[in-house]
Amino acid sequence: MSFLHINNVHKRFGETHVLKGVDIAIEQGDFLVLVGPSGCGKSTLLNMIAGLDSISEGELLLDGRCINDVHPSRRDIAMVFQSYALYPSMTVAGNIGFGLEMRKVPRKERREAVDRVAKLLQIENLLDRKPGQLSGGQRQRVAMGRALVRDPQLFLFDEPLSNLDAKLRVDMRSEIKQLHQRLKTTIVYVTHDQVEAMTLATRIAVMRAGELQQLGTPHEVYDDPNNLFVAGFMGSPSMNLVKARIVEHDSVLVAQMATSLATTQAVTLLRLRQGMTVRYLHLLVLVRLQLLKHCLVVELHLLLNLD
Ligand SMILES: Nc1ncnc2c1ncn2[C@@H]1O[C@H](COP(=O)(O)OP(=O)(O)OP(=O)(O)O)[C@@H](O)[C@H]1O
Ligand SMILES: [Mg+2]
Repeated sequence: MSFLHINNVHKRFGETHVLKGVDIAIEQGDFLVLVGPSGCGKSTLLNMIAGLDSISEGELLLDGRCINDVHPSRRDIAMVFQSYALYPSMTVAGNIGFGLEMRKVPRKERREAVDRVAKLLQIENLLDRKPGQLSGGQRQRVAMGRALVRDPQLFLFDEPLSNLDAKLRVDMRSEIKQLHQRLKTTIVYVTHDQVEAMTLATRIAVMRAGELQQLGTPHEVYDDPNNLFVAGFMGSPSMNLVKARIVEHDSVLVAQMATSLATTQAVTLLRLRQGMTVRYLHLLVLVRLQLLKHCLVVELHLLLNLD
């Protein structure tokens, strides 16, 4: 039994069908990164796991227990929202420590926990300020602090580093990675950043328009994408897709490509391994390398035809 099992989950907002039967299962200690174009349903899925949105259909299991109808406060999940959602009238220290206060953690212990997290997030000098006196990046770190101060069964992060400058982002990314390795907590993390996805994840789920396209290790989704969408979406710069036809040439299968260069009507023949056991997307990678070598990259038509 998986630790977090998202079982055929649907979400409808009136007529709008936002999640269309998502199936994802991860183990305890996994770091799942959700990626996909804007509006594909990532935040919606996180909100449903946190219990902030109802589930239209399907089942959410956490550690073997169905949590569909469990109140958010009883789910033992900490979430960092895309929109921070800080309490404006509380100080930074108050915001970070609020969850602990609700759990009746003694003041001294609370203070120590807040200081530890503030140090980690490099916001020690801001603890007495109110959110209105902070920059966007500082607010984002406070929102992170509020989750990190706890020790929940599951962390949910919705683009937690999107407003940080490049240097701080790299620092925070490595902090999150170390934190995960140290605590072995299970994490579901949304990002638009390819480097973040590839470096942090133990599993990546690629979504598109409310449907899961692929669930796999970073290596699997990058090198062995399930479909053309995943191939084009993962990787920066993204993979070039070249129109090719598989033909027999000297009794072996080759990919025949016509390029549309103004100066040459070059036709490149690329030898495939016997028997077509090579997946067509490996073929694309080979094509990319081949073309780079010949400096033909930019002017190609990007499409694949498998007939
Ligand atoms: N309360 C709502 N009522 C109707 N539609 C909604 C509601 N909340 C979200 N949606 C729609 O659901 C879809 C998914 O939204 P969601 O916020 O989950 O996307 P996302 O993948 O997190 O995008 P982004 O990367 O931009 O944050 C969008 O098309 C959005 O317009
Ligand atoms: Mg979102």
